[in-house]
Amino acid sequence: MQLAASGIAPGEVRPIDVAGEEYVLWRGMDGRLRSTPRWCPHLDHDLAEGHVSNEELVCPGHAWAFDGDGNAYKRNEFGRIDPKGSVATLVIREDDGTVVLELS
Ligand code: FES
Repeated sequence: MQLAASGIAPGEVRPIDVAGEEYVLWRGMDGRLRSTPRWCPHLDHDLAEGHVSNEELVCPGHAWAFDGDGNAYKRNEFGRIDPKGSVATLVIREDDGTVVLELS
């Protein structure tokens, strides 16, 4: 699947369907495009309604964070990380303004 990369700004979250699988894409503030399945593995909140914090996508439900490399975790008020498991990601290639997405 291909889409225009220029339409996804840093901090933006976009739901997307790839071969019948629901994902979200987001661009971190570092400019890198990342992905995770659309529905949160905790209690199924819609991650398309999440927000980007630096490079992470944060769930609107209970603030689990996703790093786009397949890791889910929660940060406590002291900044420590509580791992919450792994999630699928898409293979993402950006080339000359076009994004190519594949299931991994
Ligand atoms: S539903 Fe996402 S953190 Fe709880």
